[in-house]
Amino acid sequence: MLTAITVENFRCIEHASLDFDSRSTGILGDNASGKTSLLEAIYFLGHGRSFRSAQAEKLKREGASFFRVVGRIATHRGLLTAGLEHTQGRTQGQLAGQGISGIADIAEVLPLQIIDPGVHRLVEEGSARRRRLMDWGVFHVKREFLGYWRRYQRALSQRNAALRSAHGEELIQAWEQDFCAAGAEVDRLRAHYVEELKPHFESLAARLVGPGTTLTYRRGWPAEVELREALHDSISRDLRLKTTHVGPHRADLGFLIDGTPARDRVSRGQQKMLAAAFILSQLQCHTALGAVPTTLMLDDPAAELDVDNLGKLLLAIAEIPSQLIVTSVHERGLKGIEIGRRFHVKQGNFEPMV
Ligand SMILES: Nc1ncnc2c1ncn2[C@@H]1O[C@H](COP(=O)(O)OP(=O)(O)O)[C@@H](O)[C@H]1O
Ligand SMILES: [Mg+2]
Repeated sequence: MLTAITVENFRCIEHASLDFDSRSTGILGDNASGKTSLLEAIYFLGHGRSFRSAQAEKLKREGASFFRVVGRIATHRGLLTAGLEHTQGRTQGQLAGQGISGIADIAEVLPLQIIDPGVHRLVEEGSARRRRLMDWGVFHVKREFLGYWRRYQRALSQRNAALRSAHGEELIQAWEQDFCAAGAEVDRLRAHYVEELKPHFESLAARLVGPGTTLTYRRGWPAEVELREALHDSISRDLRLKTTHVGPHRADLGFLIDGTPARDRVSRGQQKMLAAAFILSQLQCHTALGAVPTTLMLDDPAAELDVDNLGKLLLAIAEIPSQLIVTSVHERGLKGIEIGRRFHVKQGNFEPMV
């Protein structure tokens, strides 16, 4: 759980310090006051990246030479301080006074998710977002996942480099063993995770979207063949197009309604609800599996959803024991949520409300 955060030079925020309620904190402020910027800074601490921009450089306040986000996290090991600082094109981090080896060190103790106005892209866009969200979940419930995932990514990028080089055939061979061994483990852990997630997702989606909504997992290579075989079958195409076409990096999740892809069937509003149902089902599943509870951020939900959908969403959220940080333009946008602490934000300045 995130108990406090200090943000410096992040987007429009020059300096902000906030203490969070253990259950729910509300952030109120006009448009362009800095609400999403705060959530983005928090997200950055738990993911090492933004959900809005691919480049950390863009997150730096105009004219500043660095940005820094430092959080206090309540864990089973007690209170830990975690911080990330971005300067001169590099991000460096600390956890409990020690340099980190990767963002996973912080992510492990600070599971964070966001439901923001762009959440429907999970349904609408290509597989990368769904795969990233699935892997975030697997990482939080299966400790061994990260090692296999890193090994697989390394083998994949080496294999792709070999495909691009003129005399790469031997190198392609050299990486095959690691590619297949780590890839099979990545797939096994994902498949198992999706099996555990499915009942949570399907019951939440039935409430939030409608009956008949199901989740499928596609592993990234044809059914009935081993990864090694699929890789061999793909070699001439891979050499021609200089990239690897089969493997867990091509895995995806499918959202289906009565057996057909949801993307083609539902409105933008329903896509948002479907994506929210997926994220909430992860939180619910992780809790059931005894994982560290996730801090959930909700960015301006009232502006995005109609009254009926918003009511359903808030009811579902209330049943999940996660810490909540929610933004809104108006007080009425927080209706239906028991807010423990409130802040008002104006031009990047956050003040507690009494
Ligand atoms: N790198 C930056 N430096 C300074 N200001 C920025 C930067 N990026 C965005 N902003 C500004 O931050 C303001 C607040 O944005 P945002 O947090 O999205 O507001 P809200 O969510 O409250 O509507 C906007 O006016 C935007 O122009
Ligand atoms: Mg906003």
